[in-house]
Amino acid sequence: MKFGHFDDQHREYVITNPKTPWPWINYLGNEDFFSLISNTAGGYTFYKDAKFRRLTRYRYNNVPMDSGGKYFYIKDENTVWSPGWKPCKTELDSYECRHGMNYTSIKGEKNGVTATALYFVPLKTWAEVQKLSLTNNSKEVKKLKIFSFVEWCLWNAAADMENFQRNFSTGEVEIEDSVIYHKTEYKERRDHFAYYSVNVPVQGFDTDRESFFGLYNGFDEPQVVAEGKSRNTEAHGWSPIASHYLEVELQPGESKDFVFVLGYVENKEEEKWESKNIINKTKAKETIAKFNTVAKVDAALAELREYWDNLLSVYTIDSGDDKLDRMVNIWNQYQCMITFCFSRSASYFESGIGRGMGFRDSNQDLIGFVHQIPERARERIIDIASTQFQDGGCYHQYQPLTKKGNNDIGGGFNDDPMWLILGTISYIKETGDFGILTEMVPFDNDMSVARTLFEHLTVSFDHVVNNLGPHGLPLIGRADWNDCLNLNCFSNDPNESFQTTENKTEGTKAESLMIAGLFVIYGRDYVTLCTKLGLTEEAVRAQSHIDAMMDAVKKHGWDGEWFIRAYDYYGNKIGSNENEEGKIFIESNGWCTMAGIGKEEGLCEKALEAVKERLDCEHGIVLNNPAFTKYYIEYGEISSYPAGYKENAGIFCHNNPWIMIGETVVGNGNRAWEYYRKICPSYLEDISELHKTEPYVYAQMISGKDAFKPGEAKNSWLTGTASWNFYAITQFILGIQPDYDGLLVDPCIPNDWKGFKVSRKFRGAEYHIEIQNPNGVSKGVKEIIVDGKSQASNLIPLFEDGEDHEVKVIMG
Ligand code: GLC
Ligand code: GLC
Repeated sequence: MKFGHFDDQHREYVITNPKTPWPWINYLGNEDFFSLISNTAGGYTFYKDAKFRRLTRYRYNNVPMDSGGKYFYIKDENTVWSPGWKPCKTELDSYECRHGMNYTSIKGEKNGVTATALYFVPLKTWAEVQKLSLTNNSKEVKKLKIFSFVEWCLWNAAADMENFQRNFSTGEVEIEDSVIYHKTEYKERRDHFAYYSVNVPVQGFDTDRESFFGLYNGFDEPQVVAEGKSRNTEAHGWSPIASHYLEVELQPGESKDFVFVLGYVENKEEEKWESKNIINKTKAKETIAKFNTVAKVDAALAELREYWDNLLSVYTIDSGDDKLDRMVNIWNQYQCMITFCFSRSASYFESGIGRGMGFRDSNQDLIGFVHQIPERARERIIDIASTQFQDGGCYHQYQPLTKKGNNDIGGGFNDDPMWLILGTISYIKETGDFGILTEMVPFDNDMSVARTLFEHLTVSFDHVVNNLGPHGLPLIGRADWNDCLNLNCFSNDPNESFQTTENKTEGTKAESLMIAGLFVIYGRDYVTLCTKLGLTEEAVRAQSHIDAMMDAVKKHGWDGEWFIRAYDYYGNKIGSNENEEGKIFIESNGWCTMAGIGKEEGLCEKALEAVKERLDCEHGIVLNNPAFTKYYIEYGEISSYPAGYKENAGIFCHNNPWIMIGETVVGNGNRAWEYYRKICPSYLEDISELHKTEPYVYAQMISGKDAFKPGEAKNSWLTGTASWNFYAITQFILGIQPDYDGLLVDPCIPNDWKGFKVSRKFRGAEYHIEIQNPNGVSKGVKEIIVDGKSQASNLIPLFEDGEDHEVKVIMG
């Protein structure tokens, strides 16, 4: 069953039934100021950091689900309704929510009145703009009462949910004209306040929550709305809110628009006050003035659309398959931008409080984003590298506001360092900017021990070299990419975190085959980089470690039919036929086949066969098999999950592309494509009821074949699945790869594809590439014709001339 449809022309997903199987959300803003918004106007707003600068409150996992948002209440005689159906839940005569690129528009119709609420964050603006359009389609005059609503969060989203003995006494507001200012804690250490305005005079307002709702009412029945008149309350402590009250008269056929601005201001110490206890509102007023007419708002939206036209014009495909085209051209790239902005911090599955930016996550996010805005990728790489330690280890996470490493989680995840090489080389291949390598970058944010970015890559590489176990394989530390394979944790205490506990550290010998594969791949990239920089000796030194690692993998990492996953603390195999449960894992088989380890001897093909046979199912490739059915203290969190969920044999979509790419390494385009389609959301739209999460973005996990309910997705939006799938489809299946000296073309497609077209803007030129497959092959390029001239290699050279170039690629 579907709950809407794609509108590719407008780059929107149109939801036509508000009762989606889970809130289907969108993100507003793409730089400093952000909102999450669901299809029923739930969600919240923050500036840069969802933990430390939360503007509005949200109630997680509430009853009903998705409580708290940017609501409009419309009172028309005795009927009270909201354009997004919720929170009133008055049945609407029609409903439509359009989620677009950083904007959402929600339209409801009731008793002859249409209300459309458009929400977006204009470019370079610290505010969310809302345009409420009301139309009277009836034959009578309508006298409507409109109430807006947001609830302020007391800035620190964690303290806001915990420290009520303080919170209930600190809230402060100011009201001036049609603007409500939230200034809690401004008089002491904060240099910021928030505001909510409307561009017309109001008939009233409320800022005290209890007065607005009544103490025992929910969001669905504010007392003030029921009474049809605001109380003009000024909040002192308790829970401050902002609600405007407007009386609107509409003649038959008449429309009126109102603009609301929900914004954030920072003032310098000496500019904080206008007069005693009265905040300096200059900046707020400036922003409000920028959007005080419909024309200005529409122009800002047009600018935002243009911005996205531009971003999405870098890589476009025309394959004839709408489902593929809309993912590649629109939604997958959009999701990559969102994961770039938020890492794993703020979604409807991540509270915005628990995690900041992940070291490994943010590096991986770059591979799906770097072509969109390379300058921002560059800054991100430097930020990430600045949280590395001198020995190459890294803080696992950092806070976006401070850009400092997060001490609560610390380091010790031994895959982390390698991802910095991936992030950096992806950036250089896209831009040709080798200059980034000579930037001075601190360790642990301490500039006195800064080294060049290139030296950061060297210590990353050496962190693996310096941390090898008894089999010459990389030590896993607290965990590698799989956060739940905690081989030194040995926890029997439910109050301990699996991620940060290491009860057995003395002589810990647990080793990871996944890091081995990672090391071979990004180690090779490091060698290439050294060679390009003329560092021949370093290249030779690094290559010798890679050769040794390949030998170690073949010797100690091959189980006969597939690559084992790890050695545990005691030196026992994990992911081996010897094991009773967890005989085979996806990660090591993905990484070792992507690395082509033992390809000549047929190991890669064998491993991929085993994956097909044991891990693949109707909904995708599960992480391990058989699933763990009991808790293994020596494995950690992985065995804590019920079978078929999350890291315990769930379809962890992030790692499915590793197998897709592995399949392209052995030339199996049919299978790579089959795996791609299985987890790709646009192909799952028809089973939305089962899949549950948005059909326009990837989810981190789909429950696997061992689960109670296979096929059900969770954790949509913020997942490395976005960038890895974009990377797999665009660079390995469609096969257009940015490289240091040009665009490499090497598709690996189903053999019954006749061809496809890709336009790629790259290093100051635009390539129109037409791929033809006359002989029905999956892989292999027979001829490339660039601007009418046939060339010997499949590397399209750089032109950097601002021109368009026609490229014809004949496979065979
Ligand atoms: C989550 C984490 C990521 C980790 C993955 C597997 O998605 O954000 O860092 O690699 O889970 O455990
Ligand atoms: C849990 C999750 C994993 C996530 C980690 C983050 O272990 O299963 O996916 O990465 O928490 O701390």
